[in-house]
Amino acid sequence: MCGIAGYIGPRQAAPVLLEALKKLEYRGYDSAGIALIEDGHIQVRKARGRLQHLMDITSGGMETPGHVGIGHTRWATHGEPSDRNSHPHLSNDERFAVVHNGIIENFRQLKEMLISRGYHFHSDTDSEVISNLMQEYDQGSLVETLAAAAVHLEGSYALGVLSLDEPGAIAALRKDSPLIIGRGEGENYLVSDIPAIISHTRDVYLLEDGEIALMTDSEVSFFDAYGAPIGKKVFHVDWDVSAAEKGGFEHFMMKEIMEQPQALQETIRPRIKDGRIDLSELGLEGGWLKALHTIHIVACGSAYHAGRLGKNLIEMSARIPVTVEIASEFRYSDPILQPDHLVILVSQSGETADSIAALREAKRQGVKTLAIVNVLGSTIAREADHVLYTWAGPEIAVATTKAYTAQVAALVLFSGYIAQERGSAYAPRLNILAEALLKLPEVARQVLDDHSRVQYLASLFFNHRDIYFIGRGIDYSLSLEGSLKLKEISYIHSEAQPAGELKHGTISLIQPGTLVIALATQKKLRDKMLSNIQEVRARGAVVLSIAARGDKEIAAVSDHFIGIPPLSDELEPILAVMPLQLFAYYVAALNGNDVDKPRNLAKSVTVE
Ligand code: AGP
Repeated sequence: MCGIAGYIGPRQAAPVLLEALKKLEYRGYDSAGIALIEDGHIQVRKARGRLQHLMDITSGGMETPGHVGIGHTRWATHGEPSDRNSHPHLSNDERFAVVHNGIIENFRQLKEMLISRGYHFHSDTDSEVISNLMQEYDQGSLVETLAAAAVHLEGSYALGVLSLDEPGAIAALRKDSPLIIGRGEGENYLVSDIPAIISHTRDVYLLEDGEIALMTDSEVSFFDAYGAPIGKKVFHVDWDVSAAEKGGFEHFMMKEIMEQPQALQETIRPRIKDGRIDLSELGLEGGWLKALHTIHIVACGSAYHAGRLGKNLIEMSARIPVTVEIASEFRYSDPILQPDHLVILVSQSGETADSIAALREAKRQGVKTLAIVNVLGSTIAREADHVLYTWAGPEIAVATTKAYTAQVAALVLFSGYIAQERGSAYAPRLNILAEALLKLPEVARQVLDDHSRVQYLASLFFNHRDIYFIGRGIDYSLSLEGSLKLKEISYIHSEAQPAGELKHGTISLIQPGTLVIALATQKKLRDKMLSNIQEVRARGAVVLSIAARGDKEIAAVSDHFIGIPPLSDELEPILAVMPLQLFAYYVAALNGNDVDKPRNLAKSVTVE
């Protein structure tokens, strides 16, 4: 998954490209490069390492002339991070330069074909075949050449292209990876996502799969995959610029943790009307909901953990069987789907390759699909039959926090809505749930206000090497998220276990001093958790428990205790995850890690 930028206009392009790439660096940051057209040739500057290195060797772009350029920040998929594998890639005749986000799945065959026709390659990447395909299938015009080359490509690709034959233009094409065109005054932009240009323009075009854009400094035209002209509507972005900046916090992650009350408010408030949950925006009519037989929730990572909570909640409220599957498993499992099933895709970015593939498999089988996504106009949002947006705003840190809790809130709303529409036995509880949902943002603020206590606890454990999370039911789904948050930014090994499962093996790993974080927020299971906490303490574990505020029994058997304000069983996981997010954040920060851009990870995994 990588970041793409392009600029064409009166300004020197290199500094503008580097500024945009800086805001895209969370998408991939193992190497970066820019290409500019100047004096009849394409100049390429690229290097392994963080974008800052490229900025250093080009004096912030000032020493690289040219008003037309493309840039790229990379998350390696084919070919290790290196100078030569960095983008942009030139064609052999150096008339075309390409930046690419995605994976060309048939690049080996294409490379062999091109080599047999006398081409040579400078890199191990899949992307380099694209620039040489353009040379091989040059049609004279940039749009037609791009269309002719793309016919041979299989896989996913967002492309930015320069051509010496059309020095006053940039072409772009997308399939499965996002691309946005920003319309300026006498200048135009190409980027992978909106925050990278929001400080320059709020008028954007969301490129759809198969569409080609041709940008000059004065206009943007669009074409279909065959090069035929098409029209597109401009989309006005109303985010404020600060939403895409750090807002005074040291890291985006802490900013986004603290934005959760707002994100929850934005996601919930418009959907509660007169004490009832109103999801009429989905367009799922009552009769179909009543006939709904099974729900499959499909996602990756934290979104999968949110999906697990969705299963707990929907089965509790609507008594509909729910399966939760990891998208990379679902897509190859030959899933058994029926017309009276619903497949829900949960995704912050809406661009996760495996989740997109799962969505397409569901649609191939003719099954209704619902997307719960955070990024407007993202691929999953546009391709699903129905969309329930989380309104968490742009999330920059690789480790998701506000988007995750907004996903869970959306699933709470959806579970209540189904129960309401089906008149399930749970329905009488709905106005209590609706009231609790309206209070949730304020109670979340109270939980977050206790962050310095969590910081202290992190200072006790930040040098531990193995940490275990245990819980039952909803709390087990929650423990999975707590464990992932810790792992992905602190690099400390951690695992989540169903508390009742420990004695079947994993408890052998508990030894004196092992930290066990016990989640005991669910009233009906807390007595069982009491026993499980005592089990591990008997073997020397140090226990940090998270349970309902005032639960003296759990506190008494724990070494450390965090009390969560009582609100409702359905909403405790949203509140209780916040101390876990803070714990992971502080442990990572105390270890001096790059919290927002942890090693080996990227914000949105748009490749398999
Ligand atoms: C979460 O902190 C991780 N960064 C990762 O697991 C993420 O949730 C997963 O890649 C799914 O991303 P998506 O929600 O954009 O589909």
